[in-house]
Amino acid sequence: MDTSAFEINPQLIQVLRSASKVVAMTGAGISAESKIPTFRDAMTGLWSRFRPEELATPEAFARDPKLVWEWYRWRYELVAAAEPNPGHHALVEMEDMFAEFLLITQNVDSLHTRAGNKRVLELHGNLSRSKCSRDGQVVEQWPETDQVPPLCPRCGGLLRPDVVWFGESLPTGALEKAADAALHSEVFLSIGTSSVVEPAASLIYYAVNNGSTTVEINPNPTSQAGLVTHALQGPAGVVLPALVAAIKG
Ligand code: OAD
Repeated sequence: MDTSAFEINPQLIQVLRSASKVVAMTGAGISAESKIPTFRDAMTGLWSRFRPEELATPEAFARDPKLVWEWYRWRYELVAAAEPNPGHHALVEMEDMFAEFLLITQNVDSLHTRAGNKRVLELHGNLSRSKCSRDGQVVEQWPETDQVPPLCPRCGGLLRPDVVWFGESLPTGALEKAADAALHSEVFLSIGTSSVVEPAASLIYYAVNNGSTTVEINPNPTSQAGLVTHALQGPAGVVLPALVAAIKG
């Protein structure tokens, strides 16, 4: 697949130059060029090598908290060693280009905030935070221990990663805020996501129903490629900088 088969339609540039309300929603694909594995890419995706129901569900954690804690620690080390790529940096530039820019991400890798984005809405939590599995409160620090997972210093419950697992609800208010932004957007960019995990995958429909200009950026067109105004088939680290350069003219 030629992953650089994208043309930026001048109409899209024209719309972006006059837009003030722009929403970008990202998935694991934007971090692929930072060498962080995605989930569903064949062969390299996490879900092709691990079973999500054994690692990313409350049942998995109840069954084997040590295995789940250690798997997320492995992912955290991977992410901590990674650097934002040109795709992340282009979104930082975009934040300053539009009066009302919101970056909604499904990613838990902190790369958008590390790149410099301020207005970031994390739908699926963040690997860098841990929380008590009993009361759900974030726990910033705990005493050194050989216990895996560590125990909550407040109540003694097991600590867990502060990420959304399958079957769990999103952080309170996050979906409403994301849906409201999509509904009032002039441009909605869907970047590096396979658009299969709900409710994130349905956010674009709020934008479509609003008559927003919708854009998919992905080297492998998804099932939503047919409904967007512009499908840019290429890696985010190439397409997003090209988009920013074209807007600047
Ligand atoms: P996926 O792994 O499902 O999809 C990654 C997408 O990125 C695919 O469509 C790839 O074609 C695309 N891609 C690969 N390289 C790219 C690049 N360089 N530039 C742009 N796109 C690229 O990841 P997500 O859609 O983010 O949730 O998955 C959504 C959720 O499912 C995740 O947040 C996670 C996962 O299970 C939970 O764990 C709850």
